[in-house]
Amino acid sequence: MTHTATQRINLSAPWIDERDEELVLEVLRSGWLSLGPTGPRFEAMLADAVGAPHCAAVSSGTAGLHLCMRLAGVGPGDEVITSPYSFVASANCAIYEGATPVFADIDPQTYNLDPAAVEAAITPRTKALVAVDIFGYPAEYDALIALCERHGIFLVEDSCEALGATYKGRPLGSHGHPAVWAFYPNKQMTTGEGGAVTTASDEQHELLVSLRNQGRLETSSWLQHGRLGFNYRLDDISAALGIGQLEKLDRILAARREVAARYGELLADVDVETPIPDDADHGRSWFVYVVKLPAGVDRNGVMARLAEQRIATAPYLPSIHLQSYMRERYGFSEGMLPVSEDCSARTMALPFHARLDRSDQERVAEALRDAIR
Ligand SMILES: Cc1ncc(COP(=O)(O)O)c(C=O)c1O
Repeated sequence: MTHTATQRINLSAPWIDERDEELVLEVLRSGWLSLGPTGPRFEAMLADAVGAPHCAAVSSGTAGLHLCMRLAGVGPGDEVITSPYSFVASANCAIYEGATPVFADIDPQTYNLDPAAVEAAITPRTKALVAVDIFGYPAEYDALIALCERHGIFLVEDSCEALGATYKGRPLGSHGHPAVWAFYPNKQMTTGEGGAVTTASDEQHELLVSLRNQGRLETSSWLQHGRLGFNYRLDDISAALGIGQLEKLDRILAARREVAARYGELLADVDVETPIPDDADHGRSWFVYVVKLPAGVDRNGVMARLAEQRIATAPYLPSIHLQSYMRERYGFSEGMLPVSEDCSARTMALPFHARLDRSDQERVAEALRDAIR
């Protein structure tokens, strides 16, 4: 076995270059590490990138989702509908405000919320819908927006995995309702930790800016607080990295598209379901590369075979309602959301990032082909 053949292939990797280093160093040397001029510059660039009038940077995607629950006025006794096939934060944000998460089942191909299932889950207590663009694939916004308008439900878009994606030819983030972004290092772009909320509403933006900064009002001095808020600020060091990442966002997204297309070719003769392709309405931004194994294939066995060859994979994503704390708290159990549960049992993330090279992808495809056979 050659040296390269045994090199570990990681699940994800950020793309950091000298420009990022330079921008971060500039902030470090300025001595102005938080709430300086860099945060607003980052926010303006991000707002521009997603076509939103306003952007409030926050400390994580989770923090952004939590603040959106405040925008919606979610509280005890309310229900918030979301997808079970997502990262836990999509549901946890409702629980933080004392509301109950309600899960609607998903489409087996897009892995996004099925609008008919959302409609069936609506009750008089439904206050908000957290729609998720899972794996960077836009959710069904025409149908979801219509449902929300008809039933007076506040729509939040969890676009934490979807920076750069488009719905009906327009970027996610430009459709009016608040959208939440996340910049953990496995995302399309990173700020280390970090996130943002974009919105078209002046009022929502003003509230977000206050809530993320301990409830301070724009008009008040530093130690005057007009409401209960949080410390969900993003520091200027992280924002500087964000600027470097946004400067090359187009290159990052193009590289990720290319890597995804290569997987598509390499896996053409492997017995797995590859991600649904784009159509006229849905333009994916590639976040992860998730394949669905045929029913009956032992996924743990496949993952173990790949691990032996130093190829990282993940059982991505587990259904949120079956996490132990969810079962204990709400009595959720298997069989409630059959499509999500079936996807959770069969889907698997392969190594994926902007600079994954072809030879590594060939190794992954070969190992997967062998393992499934
Ligand atoms: C769909 C989704 N929602 C929310 C989050 C939360 O973002 P963060 O990890 O920045 O809190 C993530 C990121 O992991 C995510 O993938």
